[in-house]
Amino acid sequence: MRLTCTSDLWWKNAVIYCLDVETFKDGDDDGIGDFRGLTQQIDYLAGLGVTCLWLMPFFPTPNRDDGYDITDFYSVDPRLGTLGDFVEFMRTARDRGLRVIADLVVNHTSDRHPWFLDARSSRDSRYRDWYVWSDRPEPDDPSQIVFPDKENSIWQFDDQSGQYYLHSFYRHQPDLNVGNPEVRDEIARILGFWMELGLSGFRVDAVPFLIQNVHPQLASPHEFLADLRAFMTRRSGGSVLLGEVNVPYEELTEYFGAGLGDQLTMCFDFIGMQRAWLAMARSEAEPLAQALRERPTPPKDCQWAVFLRNHDELTLDKLTEAERKEVFDAFGPEPRMQIYGRGLRRRLPGMFGGDLRRIKMAYSLLFSLPGTPVVFYGEEIGMGENLDAEGRMAVRVPMQWSREGGFSQAEPERDMPEGAFSPARVNVADQKRDGDSLLRWFQLLIERYRECPELAWGAHTVLESGHPSVLAHRCDADGATVLAVHNLCDTAAEIDLTLDGLDGQILTDLLMDGRLEVGGDGGVHIPLTPHGCRWFRASEPEVPPEDASIKAR
Ligand code: GLC
Repeated sequence: MRLTCTSDLWWKNAVIYCLDVETFKDGDDDGIGDFRGLTQQIDYLAGLGVTCLWLMPFFPTPNRDDGYDITDFYSVDPRLGTLGDFVEFMRTARDRGLRVIADLVVNHTSDRHPWFLDARSSRDSRYRDWYVWSDRPEPDDPSQIVFPDKENSIWQFDDQSGQYYLHSFYRHQPDLNVGNPEVRDEIARILGFWMELGLSGFRVDAVPFLIQNVHPQLASPHEFLADLRAFMTRRSGGSVLLGEVNVPYEELTEYFGAGLGDQLTMCFDFIGMQRAWLAMARSEAEPLAQALRERPTPPKDCQWAVFLRNHDELTLDKLTEAERKEVFDAFGPEPRMQIYGRGLRRRLPGMFGGDLRRIKMAYSLLFSLPGTPVVFYGEEIGMGENLDAEGRMAVRVPMQWSREGGFSQAEPERDMPEGAFSPARVNVADQKRDGDSLLRWFQLLIERYRECPELAWGAHTVLESGHPSVLAHRCDADGATVLAVHNLCDTAAEIDLTLDGLDGQILTDLLMDGRLEVGGDGGVHIPLTPHGCRWFRASEPEVPPEDASIKAR
């Protein structure tokens, strides 16, 4: 594959690392992470090999939804630093070759945002129409309530102005009215502001909610997304929108801009993620294989973002009730591990009982899946959750840098996990010195993933492995092939694959030392250890595997 393509369309095989400035590293000893602390850790992130940082909201906020409730879109939460600190961070990240994207949370504002304070002050306010009001809203449909533990309606009566306002999430997050052209202009201004300061794009929060209120004056709600993307492309051709769109595949293609690819550049593969968890719960490849077969190919230049965990609950909302129960039983049987009746508030290692072989296999699977991998800070060292924290906060624990914690010289504002996942047992410093650690495994996976752009760019095929627990898939691009096999169960497995077009070629192991020969009929026999995982590059016997892909064609 021509590597020049991978720098122009950088997002197609990026490695995205999501972090919250507040929980990453405290630079001023007040127990709260900040931009100065984060900036000091840039070399750690660059050394890990990630290529793009996704910053969770870092804007001024009353913090009633961990920063997803914003009171000013144009500055930095004073607890996390200043705009000056932000610019210093951006400059340092750029120097180390790291791109940065940030959360764009414009479905709603905080109810303490000056726009909303003004809007509710009078029905004649110039900001009144920036929000969605109703005298008599439609009765609620329970499926619309996102946080059923805290809310029972998506409408809230405002005593001050005598009307109801719409809030898709918490009642303290009134929805913005993107049907109003002034609001759409303001959103573009927000994008433009942060792009001027160096952001390469945005992770767009809650996209289906964001576009649902679009006014009939636009031909389709999707026109709004296309307008935003066009605005960004005019300002910076390589900027991206990564959308949080948890809808079935059939509906999702529209968000890429059906056929045209002119809306969201990337969408999270929520369906694939949920099927992967079902597959791991059953130790059976089929649920994930099925998702990979059904997943639409994104339009040219667009990409899937693949992930196993994120900052929210591990949502299993798109599984059937029986399937969800299987995952709950396997990975979160206690009620306190579950949330909203649809998800788990745990990080991955706890769900696997700390079984390092299984954890390593799961991340090998993630990095081999066709798409751009997104990891949540701390996954690279196998951090656990703190179930004593409220709700989704269980997984948003401070980063564990050393045996003592290392996040802050002061008492961290948030508690760290205790026991098997405490900093004494799980931390960056120890894992840096241990060649078999999860951290070193992540570095290897990221290095190989970057060396195999076929995984992200290629056409993928799920192969018949003949073994229910083994997922085998190949990715082909420009005449080069990478093959990945994963054993989801805890007993050894042997599989026989038929690799069309690869007869007589050599398969070189990419994660360990070894090679296999493909027979004249394309057949190859592959042994796998319990929870074993292997990646291979195919090459003609006379071509060194290192040269099989990098030839400019
Ligand atoms: C998204 C975020 C979540 C937040 C919600 C409301 O779903 O991922 O953390 O609470 O939007 O902004």
